[in-house]
Amino acid sequence: MSGRYDWIVVGAGIIGSLTAWRLAQNGFRVALVDAGAPGQQATGAAAGILSPLAEAGTIGPFTTLMMHSLHRYPDLVLELTEESGIDIQYHSTGVLQIAKEDELVRLRQRYAWQESFGAVWVTDMQKLEPSLAEYHAAIYTPKEGQVHPPLLVQAAVRAALARNVHAFFGEPVRSLLRDGLQVRGVQLPTQDLWADAGVIITAGAWSHLIVDSVSAPLPLSPIRGQILSLKTDHAPFRHIIFHQHSYLVPKRDGRLIVGATEDDAGFDSRVTASGITRLAEILQFFRISEPTFYLEKVWAGLRPKSADGLPILGRWPGQDSLYIATGHYRNGVLLSAITADIALGWATNKPAPMDLSPFHPQRFHNTILPKG
Ligand code: GLY
Repeated sequence: MSGRYDWIVVGAGIIGSLTAWRLAQNGFRVALVDAGAPGQQATGAAAGILSPLAEAGTIGPFTTLMMHSLHRYPDLVLELTEESGIDIQYHSTGVLQIAKEDELVRLRQRYAWQESFGAVWVTDMQKLEPSLAEYHAAIYTPKEGQVHPPLLVQAAVRAALARNVHAFFGEPVRSLLRDGLQVRGVQLPTQDLWADAGVIITAGAWSHLIVDSVSAPLPLSPIRGQILSLKTDHAPFRHIIFHQHSYLVPKRDGRLIVGATEDDAGFDSRVTASGITRLAEILQFFRISEPTFYLEKVWAGLRPKSADGLPILGRWPGQDSLYIATGHYRNGVLLSAITADIALGWATNKPAPMDLSPFHPQRFHNTILPKG
């Protein structure tokens, strides 16, 4: 058996699902392939935070990419809701970055460059977030917010299928079908799929399983995030709260997400005793000790992190029809909006919304020279 498409998208997390939908919206014949069910890996494990400024280290291309993606969200949500009929629980909760007394100078330095992106320096914490009244100041980004990732990926897949994307879920890619320097398709356990235009790899931390067959090992590794959710009778916070890389995310239904660890543990996505200890420290830091907050669940996911921590977006060096979109690390949900549009640009030869050279796989050219 075999099937013929314009594009084959490998990986049905949120990056791949949105990409497949965008391509199909624009008239391409698309296959969406995943080794498992859609959104089961990094997307399903994410808290759904849309906060470029809490995540950014400094001004630069990565921050610009995240801001571009955040700005696309309101329109994306309208379009996706209309096409899928699913409410992805998008809302601009607003984000507060807080600091301890001895960290205030650093926070003020962050604010100095974040002000031009719409951040506000707030000192009346009692009014904004009474549970944090003891903090003297915070960076406040009112337009940042959140979605519910499992619903987001469900909406993207439903919208894609409604646009005649063919889904091959539960079908791991065995190998790329090649013809010299052209990638022509993928081999699945049950059949071969052929792509007239190209193959786009969006398989998160697993992307190396596919592209390593055409190059030296992809400089990408999984970074485990362990995270927990609490059920509460009343929402203790209105905003998403960040302290450095730890966060609390109040969900609309009263749940509170607490995250997250950053563990270098290979492809082990189990919850560990040390992970629970770390999450307990975060709970303690944020003084989440009410006896009426009940543990709902603890889980873990693997974030795809590239060697320099930046996404990997572009045509694979030396392969004419192989593209990659991975390495989104802590910001896959946020960056999915712009990544899908960038992938559509590859298909339509439209110019990218910004200079993408800092994210191009070519930057690793010394380590990923193509195999012959
Ligand atoms: N974006 C938050 C995290 O990766 O934990």
